[in-house]
Amino acid sequence: MITALDHIAIAVPDLDAAIKRFMEDFGLPFEGTEDVVSAKTKTAFFPLPPTQIELVTPLNGEGPIAGYLEKKGGGIHHLCFRSDDIEADVERLAAKGYQFIGDTPTPGAHGAKVIFIHPKSCGGVLIEINQPAEEH
Ligand code: CO
Repeated sequence: MITALDHIAIAVPDLDAAIKRFMEDFGLPFEGTEDVVSAKTKTAFFPLPPTQIELVTPLNGEGPIAGYLEKKGGGIHHLCFRSDDIEADVERLAAKGYQFIGDTPTPGAHGAKVIFIHPKSCGGVLIEINQPAEEH
């Protein structure tokens, strides 16, 4: 079941400049950056409960965000719904005809399990579904 809007992600060509903008101009609390090697991205999170802003930039100039920036120069990239049972949500949505990028959820930022719905099957919107790692 989808339980929250986990984050809205913005693709940026210059992460440091974008962090400065969201910290200093908009005054958002900055949580820190994380390299997500599996996704070839570097992220920065700004918690704004009950959701957060995620800045995302290519790690080492590679990966899907690199292609996006080349085409569009930056902008709103995806939104992410939080799930309490990602496998069940993938199965339910796949049965309705949604196509996923990859077959199964993979590790993403914060150790969450994540999967993306292909925008071609979702009205042009890239939607991520994540299930946060269990709290210890
Ligand atoms: Co995301």
